[in-house]
Amino acid sequence: MISIIGSGKVGSAIAFLMATTSLDDIVLVNRSKEKALGTALDISNSVSVNSPVSVVGTDDYSKIKNSDVVIISASAGNSGTSRMDLLEQNVILIKDIAKKIKQHSPDSKVLIVTNPLDIITYVFQKEVSYPKEKVIGIAGNLDSSRFRYILAKELNTNVDKITNALVLGEHGDTMVPIFSHARYNDKPVLDFLSTTQVQQITDNVRNYWKEIRKYQVFSVFGIAKNTTDVARAILKDEKLSISASVLVDGQYGLSDLCLGVPIKINKN
Ligand code: LAC
Repeated sequence: MISIIGSGKVGSAIAFLMATTSLDDIVLVNRSKEKALGTALDISNSVSVNSPVSVVGTDDYSKIKNSDVVIISASAGNSGTSRMDLLEQNVILIKDIAKKIKQHSPDSKVLIVTNPLDIITYVFQKEVSYPKEKVIGIAGNLDSSRFRYILAKELNTNVDKITNALVLGEHGDTMVPIFSHARYNDKPVLDFLSTTQVQQITDNVRNYWKEIRKYQVFSVFGIAKNTTDVARAILKDEKLSISASVLVDGQYGLSDLCLGVPIKINKN
């Protein structure tokens, strides 16, 4: 069973994708019971005829009991020009959600989507003191898909020709696309790019979200797909190598913070 805390645009897109791919039963939790009920009724109609999955909406955290995976997409509002805009409100929100998750479903793996991602993941982790493997901030695979997309455009090719394009570090203005590992048609991308292009692509990866926000208020589908991929890998014990925000304790000479590093997902 999967629980999703926050059934706004992102939470409901995640639920929709999970329901249509028949991943597992879904509990949608929202502060507004009406919103959760309405979204669950709507998404329930997207479940295939041969699928057993159920989608329920609630404002009652006791319903998340025994979730295999809990996803947190709740937010105090919508960020304006910076993911840091909602820092203070979302820290308060996440502490409250953390207590409730620990109380009602302490064995769940927790995937966090709420911004500012690395800080919120850290605050959640500090609140619950789970083993670091159990709390994963989802953004690195989203940023990596953006890096892949921008590289493909720059090299005038399709995204499937770009491999090993990883973005590490903060899910924010200092994120680091790793050019040295990225490949185009199985050759180093750096063989095809000038220093100026590398700088421009780095800026474009960092500003991708702001580019989306020029045209629409939310970024929804990329994060929904990338979150669903991680949940699926956990539930189905598929091996998935991505970058994601986790607590580092000594790796890379860093400790006591969360940021995007390469990790391997499986059921544990
Ligand atoms: C983004 C938001 C979700 O990068 O942080 O699209």
